[in-house]
Amino acid sequence: MSLQSHDHLLSIAQKAALEAGNMLKEAFGTSFRIDSKEGRHNLVTEYDHRAEDMIISCIHSAFPDHIFLAEESGSTGAPADTIRWIIDPLDGTVNFAHSIPIFCVSIAAEQSGKLLCGVIYAPMTSELFTGTHGGGAYLNGQALSVSTTDNLEDAILVTGFPYNAWENPQNCIDHFSRFVRMGLPVRRLGSAALDLAYLAAGRFDGYWEVSLNAWDVAAGKLLLQEAGGMITQYDGSPHNLYNGTMLATNGRIHKAMSKILTEQVS
Ligand code: IPD
Ligand code: CA
Ligand code: CA
Repeated sequence: MSLQSHDHLLSIAQKAALEAGNMLKEAFGTSFRIDSKEGRHNLVTEYDHRAEDMIISCIHSAFPDHIFLAEESGSTGAPADTIRWIIDPLDGTVNFAHSIPIFCVSIAAEQSGKLLCGVIYAPMTSELFTGTHGGGAYLNGQALSVSTTDNLEDAILVTGFPYNAWENPQNCIDHFSRFVRMGLPVRRLGSAALDLAYLAAGRFDGYWEVSLNAWDVAAGKLLLQEAGGMITQYDGSPHNLYNGTMLATNGRIHKAMSKILTEQVS
């Protein structure tokens, strides 16, 4: 597929993300329906559904043959080499539901296991992160690159905790404690997509998390790779969008973080 085609995919993804994100911005702080999914604090609002419907309808009218993997409506099937859109209509739902303005829309296109383009739009800060395979990553049109922090001791990190942290043996809490005890600033924004977008923008140096879904990280993974970052499992083996651990960094502190994440915690 040519770069031109990637750009066409990106322009539609961008249109869908802006439409949905602007709707979320208007709804922010108003009263709306909030339900729980599995787990009391794993929330879904009526706007998760509305945003997803809006995004799918925008993409479907441009590309009627493409298929979808979307958080609230699941997946549609088709031949293996069909372009698949991976959509998180509202990443940071718990923040949105509590009127905390840290959330975004995340959309990526994938074909035969390769990410083609990605968009993350944070409507409250009007930040539009975009990228195409081989074409770089951008924030509101400005090229992005990861930070140049060389030493873990100088790094600022970010992480997240799974909704089932109390029963998930890999819950990030021991590692969180370990990095904090080393004296590092560690943040928890509540949006995996924004964690990765901020890493691509050089705001964070490293990020780790477990139990993520493809829609949480697909667009962010493409942005990070295009901004010169590195993404693997904790032990340095290839990252898989569909399962496993995730370690994402500026590349320079990757080994040092991997060492800590793979050590036995006492
Ligand atoms: C969640 C956020 C959060 C991460 C969770 C995700 P949601 O997505 O990305 O940062 O820690 O694992 O499920 O539910 O807000 O779309
Ligand atoms: Ca999510
Ligand atoms: Ca979501």
